[in-house]
Amino acid sequence: MRMTENDAAGVETPDSGAMSWEERESAQAAAYDAIGDRYDEAFPHKDGQIGMVERLLPDLPPGARVLDLGCGTGTPTTRQLVDGGCRVTGTDISPRMLEVAKRNVPEARFLLRDMVDLDPERETYDAVVSCFSLLHLTRDRIPVVLDLVRRALVPGGRFGLAMVEADVDDAPIPFLGQTLRVTGYFRDELRGMLHSAGFTVEHERTLSYAPASTQARPEIQIFMICGNGEERGTA
Ligand SMILES: C[S@@+](CC[C@H](N)C(=O)[O-])C[C@H]1O[C@@H](n2cnc3c(N)ncnc32)[C@H](O)[C@@H]1O
Repeated sequence: MRMTENDAAGVETPDSGAMSWEERESAQAAAYDAIGDRYDEAFPHKDGQIGMVERLLPDLPPGARVLDLGCGTGTPTTRQLVDGGCRVTGTDISPRMLEVAKRNVPEARFLLRDMVDLDPERETYDAVVSCFSLLHLTRDRIPVVLDLVRRALVPGGRFGLAMVEADVDDAPIPFLGQTLRVTGYFRDELRGMLHSAGFTVEHERTLSYAPASTQARPEIQIFMICGNGEERGTA
């Protein structure tokens, strides 16, 4: 996902400030509906997020309840979590991505839902993961969702986050023939924001990544595993 340099050049799209949140999100969902299976073809190598989940799994209790926010096609993360013995709920705003995810990971439960609607009063998890999905929100919504995620975690719960390093807010970018809106941070800023939301960053890794289908310069992907600042069993 190219989020830097001149990605926004030549992309004709309304200022999202002029749209309601629902309009913005239905445009994002429609873009991912059109992308569907092609997402996995364009991004066949997902070593960073696979490594992050490998590191996360041993910290989770048997049969852990895990929320995969913006699960996309379910490959590889929902599948990896299910194979690791977790009971996984995948949520996404794109009906088409969820259709593919249900086919790829029939053992998981899937919900068509915007991540801003996560309800910590009604659902709790041993872990939440968000692989390159939080980056589709805006800088004003990301801290709100981080707060929801932290409150939805049991004491000692873990949050696995994958982002692209970039200094942008709600920037339109061309992506596999569609226009998507993305937000990014420099890693120090991202770390600071996680701390402010009450997380402790326990593990951090950065990787240089170039999608198979482009000649573009690599982008920097950031992977963080965070605790929610509480010990397991202290609630
Ligand atoms: C870059 S893809 C990543 C998919 C998957 N997590 C992976 O790593 O392969 C981003 C996904 O987030 C979903 N998404 C974007 N905005 C969302 C939102 N507000 N709530 C839930 N899902 C969202 C998109 O539909 C898409 O499936």
